Formats: sequence, C-alpha cells, structure tokens
Amino acid sequence: MTRWLVTGAAGMLGRDLTDLLQARGEEFTPLARVDLDVTDPAAVAKAVSVVKPDVVVNCAAWTAVDAAEEHEEEAFAINAHGALNLAAACASVGALLVHPSTDYVFDGGASAPYAEDAPPAPAGAYGRTKLAGEQAVRAALPGASYIVRTAWLYGAHGKNFVKTMLRLAGNGTAPGVVADQHGQPTWTADVAAQVYALIANAAPPGVYHATSSGQATWFTLAEEIFTLYQDQAQIQPPIDNSERVRLTPRPITTADYPTPAKRPAYSVLGHDAWHAAGIQPISDWKDALHRAFPAILSTANA
Ligand SMILES: NC(=O)c1ccc[n+]([C@@H]2O[C@H](COP(=O)([O-])OP(=O)(O)OC[C@H]3O[C@@H](n4cnc5c(N)ncnc54)[C@H](OP(=O)(O)O)[C@@H]3O)[C@@H](O)[C@H]2O)c1
Repeated sequence: MTRWLVTGAAGMLGRDLTDLLQARGEEFTPLARVDLDVTDPAAVAKAVSVVKPDVVVNCAAWTAVDAAEEHEEEAFAINAHGALNLAAACASVGALLVHPSTDYVFDGGASAPYAEDAPPAPAGAYGRTKLAGEQAVRAALPGASYIVRTAWLYGAHGKNFVKTMLRLAGNGTAPGVVADQHGQPTWTADVAAQVYALIANAAPPGVYHATSSGQATWFTLAEEIFTLYQDQAQIQPPIDNSERVRLTPRPITTADYPTPAKRPAYSVLGHDAWHAAGIQPISDWKDALHRAFPAILSTANA
C-alpha cells in the first residue's frame, strides 16, 4: 500500500485530497500548517523521516495573488523555499513529490492552449514564486516529481468564486463579471482525483495540467452558476418582482475591475501529458461544475 503525506492539508485542495484518500482506504498523514510549516527545513526533514512516505503531495501554498505583489518575499518563502525543503526531504527518503502549481506561470498572451512544455513567463509576483517552486522541485527530483498545474479552483472547503456567486444569487444581487479573461474553472476534487491517478498508474514524472477541459470566461462561469442555482436549488432570489424573474450577471471588462496583480487574459492549459500517460484529463468545465454543485451549495454559507 502507498503511504501518503499531505502538507497544507487544511486548504481547499488539501481537504478534498485527504477526503479522497480516506474514501479509497489509503494510508495517509495529513499535516496542516499548524502541524508542519513547510518553510522550516528542519521540521520538514523530521516530518518526512518520521512518516517515511512513498508520496508527498504539497498542498501548502501562498495563494493570495494580489497580496503577493506587496509580500513577494513571504510568498517566495512558502511557494519556493517550502517546495525546495520538501523536495530535499523526499530525495533523502526516496519519496515521490507531487507539487501543485498554477496557470499564472504563463503570461496569458497566448491564443491556443499552453502545452506542458511551453516556456513560462509569469506576469506577477505570485506566478514568479510558483515558477521558482516548480524549478526547485524539478531540479532536486528530476525523475521523481510531478508538477501539477491547475487554475481557477473552486471547492467545498475555502473561499472561491463559485461560492461568492452563490451568495450573490442568494441575496438577489446580479453582479458585473469579467468577460474578457479565458480559463478553465476547475473543481478541487477533480484535481485530487488526477493526483491519485498519477500515482495509481505510475505515470511518468513530469508536468501535468489538472484543469477542466473546454474553456470559459468568469462571466460565462457566473452565468452557469446563477442558472444552476435558480434551477437546481429551487430557491427564488428575494427580489420584489412576484413573477419568476431570472437573475443574470452582466458582462464587464478587465479594465472595469482593476486588481493589484495583472490577470492572464488567456489561461487555457493543454492536456497532452494525460493522454500520453493513458489517463483521462478532467471533463468539460460545465460537467465538472454540475457534478460539484451539490457539495459546493451545501457549504456556500459556511
Ligand atoms: N485557488 C486557486 O484558484 C488556484 C489556482 C491555481 C493553482 N492553485 C494552486 O493549487 C494549490 C492548492 O491551492 P488551494 O486553493 O487549495 O490553496 P489554499 O486553500 O490557500 O490552501 C493552501 C494551504 O496552505 C497552507 N499554508 C500556507 N503557508 C503554509 C506553510 N508555511 N506551511 C504549511 N502550510 C501552509 C494554508 O494555511 P493557512 O490558510 O493557515 O495559511 C492553506 O491551508 C496551490 O499550490 C496553489 O498555488 C490554486
């Protein structure tokens, strides 16, 4: 049986991964930030030498994209040095390391899906720190690491765009949503399943893109969430019109919604590595959202 160690286990992906490992009857050690700070090399080395895992999945990360612009050093400590600490510890016990990364390693200037080996060129601090983490992991564990880039994540545990839209729909608010950024909304439970599949299938080490298939904009995603909410939740938004009025978001542009960190205009990632490894990529983003919806709805106000 495979012995797993999960860092950042209380995060959005960490929670779904540990739920999946539990459901599959795997032997795993979930370590949240309070249990293991990945920026502490001695603590990381000790934890790994005590658990002696076959696989470490590093779900610990600084994920506050805008705040990273002003706190790049702190983000770097977690996203780059933390990754390096884990890679060094894995090397010393012969463990595999699965390291989630991000579409933000690309600048978003493309117009066709980014291949796994497309040259990275981060446009902001968060992307730079995540790219440094990827490079540290690949250098320390060239034949024993998986870089699993994902994007536009939502899940039952943690703040995310889908939950925000559900709350707005519940309040009867139709927001303006950015319609000129393209990407792949992705459910954390699907990413967890892809990580599991990599190990279960002894896939070749390398870079994989764990994002939903197809592509959306934040606006088309919001439209789908509002539709699902009003159709499936069967809850009428508290609007004063007594007729059954459909509430829909309205499209706005990136320029209408300025943020400290530049957002990639085109963040669609290619899935060739899954096909080469004989593993199905994640399904279309709408299918994923429909499958995820009950779990997300049940925790939307939590
Ligand atoms: N969220 C997205 O849309 C998105 C998109 C693309 C890629 N990704 C990548 O996907 C992965 C998972 O993201 P997520 O959304 O699950 O993130 P998340 O919910 O923010 O979880 C990250 C976890 O890491 C913990 N952490 C922070 N610093 C730590 C440290 N020094 N030592 C140990 N743990 C630490 C956090 O704890 P605290 O909460 O206590 O700080 C949190 O529980 C990350 O690698 C991220 O870069 C995410």
